[in-house]
Amino acid sequence: MLAVERITLDYESTLTGVETLPVLGWIIASDQRNVEQIAWQIQIAQDEGFTSLCYDSGDVRSAESANITLPALSLTPSAHYVVRVKIHDNQGNVSDWSPTARFITGLPAAQWQAVFISAETPADKERSKGTLLRREFALPDGEIVSAIVHASALGLYQLYLNGQRVGQDELSPGWTSYHHHLRYQTYDVASLLQPGGNALGAMVGAGWYKGDMSFNRYRNYYGEQTAFIGQLVVRYRDGREVVIATDGLWQASDAPIVFSELYDGEIYDARLEQVGWSQPGFTATLWRDVTLLAADKSVLTPQTSCAVQAVERLQPIAMIVTPQGDKVLDFGQNLTGWVDFTVRGERGQKVVLRHFEVLDADGNVYLDNLRTAKQCVDYTLRGGQDEHYHPHFTFQGFRYVRIDAWPGTPAPEDFCAVVLHSAMQPTGSLETSRDDLNQLHHNIVWGLKGNFVDVPTDCPQRDERLGWTGDAQIFCRTASYLMQTRNFFSKWLLDLKYDQTEEGGVPHVVPDILTGKCDNDRFLSHGRTHSAAAWADAAVINPWTLYLMYGDKAILRQQYDSMKAWVDFMRAHAVEHMWRYRLQFGDWVALDAKEGSYFGATPNELICMAYYALSTKLFARTAQVLGNKADYAAYSALHEAIVARFQQEFFTPTGRLAARTQTAHILALCFDLVPTAFRERTVQTLLQLLEENDGHLVTGFVGTPYFCHALSENGQTEAAWQLLLKEDFPSWLYQVHAGATTIWEHWDGIKLDGTMWSPDMNSFNHYAYGAIGEWLYRAAAGINPDESEPGFKRIHLRPLPGGDIRWLKASYQSNYGNIGVHWQRDGEKMLTLSVAIPPNTRADVVLEGAERVLNDDGVAFVACTEGVRAALGSGRYTFTYLLA
Ligand code: BGC
Repeated sequence: MLAVERITLDYESTLTGVETLPVLGWIIASDQRNVEQIAWQIQIAQDEGFTSLCYDSGDVRSAESANITLPALSLTPSAHYVVRVKIHDNQGNVSDWSPTARFITGLPAAQWQAVFISAETPADKERSKGTLLRREFALPDGEIVSAIVHASALGLYQLYLNGQRVGQDELSPGWTSYHHHLRYQTYDVASLLQPGGNALGAMVGAGWYKGDMSFNRYRNYYGEQTAFIGQLVVRYRDGREVVIATDGLWQASDAPIVFSELYDGEIYDARLEQVGWSQPGFTATLWRDVTLLAADKSVLTPQTSCAVQAVERLQPIAMIVTPQGDKVLDFGQNLTGWVDFTVRGERGQKVVLRHFEVLDADGNVYLDNLRTAKQCVDYTLRGGQDEHYHPHFTFQGFRYVRIDAWPGTPAPEDFCAVVLHSAMQPTGSLETSRDDLNQLHHNIVWGLKGNFVDVPTDCPQRDERLGWTGDAQIFCRTASYLMQTRNFFSKWLLDLKYDQTEEGGVPHVVPDILTGKCDNDRFLSHGRTHSAAAWADAAVINPWTLYLMYGDKAILRQQYDSMKAWVDFMRAHAVEHMWRYRLQFGDWVALDAKEGSYFGATPNELICMAYYALSTKLFARTAQVLGNKADYAAYSALHEAIVARFQQEFFTPTGRLAARTQTAHILALCFDLVPTAFRERTVQTLLQLLEENDGHLVTGFVGTPYFCHALSENGQTEAAWQLLLKEDFPSWLYQVHAGATTIWEHWDGIKLDGTMWSPDMNSFNHYAYGAIGEWLYRAAAGINPDESEPGFKRIHLRPLPGGDIRWLKASYQSNYGNIGVHWQRDGEKMLTLSVAIPPNTRADVVLEGAERVLNDDGVAFVACTEGVRAALGSGRYTFTYLLA
């Protein structure tokens, strides 16, 4: 049996707003082993029956089933397309045509007849209210074959057609470096149209565009007036086309949203609702004219996937009354989103909800760590019947909700928490014999969900929620095991590139809304808003990570200049290969910091240089992958020089690393900065540094992600497991045992005595330390891509059992299909390993520490330094072996 199970378009199952053909891939299904594809045929058409083909590749001899780039096609804007594939394998099988994949094309910049229209005036500069826009239109008679709308906003918008919400996206158009690219969304609205009279309506709010942002609370960062742009294209069977675009004929009004801000929440007065406002026949006599804004339309680019959506819904697990008498809902999970509620009461009565993350030691509401973020929803009832509401242009980070006002007695069934995040396909799963480790994995996944809200944020609850580059850098690989992040990160990396300084400096947060707005900030004043080691290196590490995980060179091409500019920035600020720049975060929030300080004990010079070496190495490899020989040679030489200088500066002649911190040793080992002769000594000192802390880590953002790797990559797998499985403070499992449902910003977010870390900066949903997830997948489960054939075309499987874990089951949904690993201990010395290797890939499996293979499942193993190894073709295998 040979079949194409599913086609992917830019790694997604469907795309909307396509302007250039996506990269294609497909998942192959077969019941045989050693299956390799030898040829494919792709067809693209505009009709389901593939009667008139726009493209037919014919049989193409190729082993590739991912990252296929087709010749450029001239695509009709605002139209439907279908794609199918047929393949041949090396065993003489030919598949049927695959299930069809669909995409809708976008509207290239030159074709926007629409203009930006606003319901606000310059006088609304300081306000964050919601506004409404509407336009009624009559459609001529005839058979409609397609109706596609494209829309975007300066601010946030929701689109309605004939009273129905269009699409399922929230917080559109998302957050980008708006002056460089503003994304528009595309929807098929054929089913919402009706013969004759129709009406389009848009509700608009402030959002990231003009809202009150960052811990310094600046508003109007991108502009002072919200606006909306939309263009509906209706096509008829006989070739006629009707276009309804935003123009001066639209009308404007205020929405019942009296106030809506990302950090502070929403005030909604249902008494102000205008029933039927987005339906035809509505009397809009009191509505005002719109203002036409001459905003730049050339920045409009399509959002083809990955929009923020309501992905899950959770019921409260309890409704409690705190010792102080507050009525509180507990959703059992720290999450990002909003509360959906149903209420009944009298006109003018109120619902007031305050969202927060944790209860204090006495079980009372704890709001201090939200800083100035109000996270409050204030709803005024229209009265009479059941009223159903959730906020529109805000989101909250919370597990608990304090009910400050409610008509009558609230019941848990009246509420539901809606989880919002960028819609990404889950790709990783991992389960072990230990519940606390499983909970840690769960917490890592929820850290991702809570902080991948169109941009990768540090936290979702306080007055921050910014795209901190360092956090996104250290968590990128973990995130890419858990979900398909290729499109999410490639959009953010574009913003990083756009927001880089002329000199190549990389802002601390992307999109950058700090530069120029931090004059009174204790850390960030005097232009210290960009270029810190480990943060700015996201410019290089993230694209490289995506390349390894997805094998897609396009991301390297897109970011090449940006990567190079960052390396050149460091070079320009280096003296004898040691660079420095204004503000460094160092090993941020490490426990070896001085009392009351955020900055860990590892010297900045060392961290700067270590990351300079790493980024230069990865950039040189990028140049090699893209065939840029000159850059490859130049940056490889630069890398060697940096490493030599590092060794001269930080290693004594007898091999002592001059900075005696865990993080210094971890970086030196993991970034290949240790002279071979000193490697063992460096590993031993790291073990000693662990021992001195009673087996605990004291590392911060920089050292933590690599700690277990530094051990397991250097023959200390058991030490890595012991570190991971520590249960007392400080450790990953300390917070699990303290009841965490997400990852905390601080090892001691809640201290042993129940008191909190400073309210100044204490998030309970910060994914950074969740970067240990990478070790779980890459080492514990042992699933790795091979750099020579990235994107898991060639797979390394080298699971590292350890600790008191009896079994571990993990899977990763790669571009080629599911990679599975399941190991199990049978007694002290015996292990069983089952693996699944997708069709059209190969794997090199290593049975770590194996002395004898009892069941080789027909595979020829050979001895190697780690144990035994074998090369496998696709299929399922089970091995049993004895450890030495
Ligand atoms: C953020 C961090 C970030 C850091 C930079 C904090 O406020 O929450 O996660 O990386 O600042 O120093």
